[in-house]
Amino acid sequence: MNPKNIALALMGLVLFTSHAQKRIPEVEQLLQKMTLEEKIGQLNLLTPGGGVATGAVVSENVEAKIRAGKVGGLFGVAGPEKVRVAQELAVKKSRLGIPLLIGSDVIHGYRTTYPIPLGLSSSWDMDLVEQAAQMAAKEATADGINWNFSPMVDIARDPRWGRISEGAGEDPYLGSKIAKAMVKGYQGEDLSASHTMLACVKHFALYGAVEAGRDYHSVDMSKIKMFNQYLPPYKAAIDAGAASVMTSFNDVDGVPATGNKWLLTDLLRDRWGFDGFVVSDYTSLNEMIAHGLGDLQAVSALALKAGLDMDMVGEGFLTSLKKSFEEGKVTEAAITNACRRVLEAKYNTGLFDDPYRYLNTKRPEKDILTDYNRELSRKLASRSFVLLKNHNSVLPLEKKGKIALVGPLADSKENMLGTWAPTGDFRLAVSILEGFKNIAPTTEIAYAKGANISDDADFAKRVNVFGPRISINERSSKDMLQEAVALAKTSDVVVAVVGEATEMSGESSSRTDISIPESQKRLIRALVETGKPVALVLMSGRPLTIAEEYEMPVSILQVWHPGIEAGNAIADVVFGDYNPAGKLTATWPVNVGQIPVYHSAKVTGRPPSESDAFQKFKSNYLDAPNAPLLPFGHGLSYTTFEYSNLKLDKKQVRQGEGITATVTLTNTGDYDGEEVVQLYLRDVVRSITPPKRQLKGFQKIMLRKGERKEVSITLSPDDLKFYNGQLELVSEPGEFEVFVGTNSDAELSKSFTLK
Ligand code: NOJ
Repeated sequence: MNPKNIALALMGLVLFTSHAQKRIPEVEQLLQKMTLEEKIGQLNLLTPGGGVATGAVVSENVEAKIRAGKVGGLFGVAGPEKVRVAQELAVKKSRLGIPLLIGSDVIHGYRTTYPIPLGLSSSWDMDLVEQAAQMAAKEATADGINWNFSPMVDIARDPRWGRISEGAGEDPYLGSKIAKAMVKGYQGEDLSASHTMLACVKHFALYGAVEAGRDYHSVDMSKIKMFNQYLPPYKAAIDAGAASVMTSFNDVDGVPATGNKWLLTDLLRDRWGFDGFVVSDYTSLNEMIAHGLGDLQAVSALALKAGLDMDMVGEGFLTSLKKSFEEGKVTEAAITNACRRVLEAKYNTGLFDDPYRYLNTKRPEKDILTDYNRELSRKLASRSFVLLKNHNSVLPLEKKGKIALVGPLADSKENMLGTWAPTGDFRLAVSILEGFKNIAPTTEIAYAKGANISDDADFAKRVNVFGPRISINERSSKDMLQEAVALAKTSDVVVAVVGEATEMSGESSSRTDISIPESQKRLIRALVETGKPVALVLMSGRPLTIAEEYEMPVSILQVWHPGIEAGNAIADVVFGDYNPAGKLTATWPVNVGQIPVYHSAKVTGRPPSESDAFQKFKSNYLDAPNAPLLPFGHGLSYTTFEYSNLKLDKKQVRQGEGITATVTLTNTGDYDGEEVVQLYLRDVVRSITPPKRQLKGFQKIMLRKGERKEVSITLSPDDLKFYNGQLELVSEPGEFEVFVGTNSDAELSKSFTLK
């Protein structure tokens, strides 16, 4: 609660709503003065264009609408001067002078971009995640933004879905920790401070489970799966105090999320106690027409009654709610409630005290793209990298000899920031070629492009909607390949930077084939054939299918899309100045046919053999193993770690008690390094079928070469709980198995019984 609220509460001035929520006197007084039209105006969120429009529509006549009190917030406007123009219009020219919320998609850094969220999650470092969000908030608020359309906490188990890049991967436990850290980072302790902004948890709900990984597609899921697997991160964000929620495009149980009363009221407000406001996604209200729920007036009324407070861009509320009120289809109370929630958010950000509080023209220079921020981004990037494989310990490279740096992403600033970085400027990004030269200035580094990202011009055109990310070279593919091979032959080692262009993942970028494009595969094969040591630096916004490359005698460092400091961070790791410790937060399948494949899948009544060899009439495939190529939690280091001596502090646990697992971790290799110790739990017998195992704890540990440590992870009573068939959160007596190790295949195990 901010100090002002506390003072008012003490004076006995606080009133209560039906949700037993405190009311803010200033807001109540303002509501008294508002006409119905003005209340509806507050529910309208517009974008005047100029930013990235993620739908076909961009708002019109925005200025006139602000003057008329028909706008509650804007997004796609930034910079203290520009925001001031809009804010002055609202404050000085509209009848009641209500300031605007100014939103933005600050997904992975504002101007100082850092790794895409899937990459950041691979750090398994919650302090760093929070620091990243804090930095983003500081930069964005310096530019006049007070509301962030982040974090995206959608669990995603289908790497065909391009937006898997924007979230924290497949796991609800890790996803919940990250959701909390991001909300804390954006909102801080005091929402009205000038460097914090409102968080907006999205996309509520289940967006990551769209059928066949196709964006905007339908979702159909049992409540048991929702509660146990998909909803926890949203709930964690709400519990952490997230001020707003954005609905998803998909339907949930047959009703689009934007008009889903069960979701927005029964669950979100009544069961979880959320007291912030709910905004639609971009025209998702209008899209309910195409979903088959009626015309604009009908879907707008439905959405309001379901619990939607603000309508993004589509103007369904603006153009139809009054009519619906006059026809008795919605009540004024419903409109007032929605308006109240929007106004309360404005109040909490401090906009009523000072509508210009985020508009200090001196701040951008002081707070944006500072050396400190770039350093932090570099650190975040190196912590996000995952060493998938290190054949013959090719990595780290020595800073000597001749290095062939090849590949279409090796000298490509335009692909360093990653998807959803509209506020970043890729021209300021460090390319990998530059990074290598910065870090190893006396080493000979020779560059050749070697291949196009893709040779398919139609594909390139689709990817290049925001500018050229895939440029097809005028030279023939053969020519480029020959040049790279010749270079490789005269070098001591080859580093090939390959993978996805920035916009090959992200929104509206679903793929059915998630392998490395053929043009680049040819390059990799030819480089390997030279017999030189080869390290692949793999860039992507999603897990890829790399079974062919994984079989080759190569090292593979997965770097996602690392952000503005890409080249420096990659060089830090490639040359061993930092020893990589990232771990995958989404499983990498052998092939697309295995999808969805994730570590917490059910056991089934006919589990395959331990060895995963095919068995007739078991749950397996004729033509592929069940096991993925790379399990959840996988990630190597330049050093090696040994796990031994797993112990539990008790054999029997009573309801309400926790239990501690302790393991000995030894750094057995030649480098100092960090390891993410992971604990998985299997609830062996219970009333609903249990997952094979589920992440329930982790700790990132630094060990010097040769060092040994006892690492303890405590499971709380809540960690033993799950949602049963009645959707109650319970723990049931019986046997549990604990696994501790380096990834979700962890082998050390011990059992205990819950009494
Ligand atoms: C559509 C996206 O789904 C959402 O994530 C984003 O916040 C909005 N567009 C606004 O840009």
